Amino acid sequence: MTGKFIVIEGLDNAGKATQSALLSEHLRASGLKVILTKEPTNGILGGMSKAALNKELTISGKALQLLFCADRAHHLETEIEPAMNKGFIVVCDRYFFSTLAYGFASNINYKWLRSVNISFRKPDLGLYLDIDPKTAFLRLPKQESTLQLFDNLQKLSKVRQAYLSISKEFHLKKIDANGSIEEVSQRINKIVDKFLNINGNKSYAN
Ligand SMILES: Nc1ncnc2c1ncn2[C@@H]1O[C@H](COP(=O)(O)OP(=O)(O)OP(=O)(O)O)[C@@H](O)[C@H]1O
Ligand SMILES: [Mg+2]
Repeated sequence: MTGKFIVIEGLDNAGKATQSALLSEHLRASGLKVILTKEPTNGILGGMSKAALNKELTISGKALQLLFCADRAHHLETEIEPAMNKGFIVVCDRYFFSTLAYGFASNINYKWLRSVNISFRKPDLGLYLDIDPKTAFLRLPKQESTLQLFDNLQKLSKVRQAYLSISKEFHLKKIDANGSIEEVSQRINKIVDKFLNINGNKSYAN
């Protein structure tokens, strides 16, 4: 039996890592086999992507997007697909929707971004954690300077607009990511439980 592929997307600090971990715990507590993973990965290609994001490595805009895609191809072939073939539920923090949203906000042609990502496996369930960039920014422990804040907010507003339209195109479920960690977690669990028919058909249980 094949597993299910659940993707969690959203802006920086939307709560993806927090909520992916809580969702994984919730599903394990329901008796399901779960693998929690993320992109960029901790592998060499993910490491190069992160180095480029941190400006430790200079790389052109399209080359960076292709690096994310190379990391994704490797991630799918070596981790996601084998886990799914073993019947695991794979919870993935960021996937190709991040490339589409952030790439578009970096002025890369959307059709080009779409064409290089469209053949990757689609999630069985995609969740988009929607949050105002300012609210997300305020979750940072240390505030950056006002100027950086302004630049970041402008860019992240563009990313958010892109996510909203991508969510419609790829049928991602939009989740209100405002409120406490617990409140957001309950919103997510409700949707995922319904999707997996937890408390009903336990066909994904061990
Ligand atoms: N609902 C929430 N309310 C307040 N703080 C939150 C909430 N969710 C997460 N946080 C806090 O916000 C910070 C960022 O959360 P998290 O790392 O989960 O976000 P992320 O979406 O994975 O971010 P990034 O894209 O930067 O990796 C953490 O310090 C986390 O504890
Ligand atoms: Mg994160």
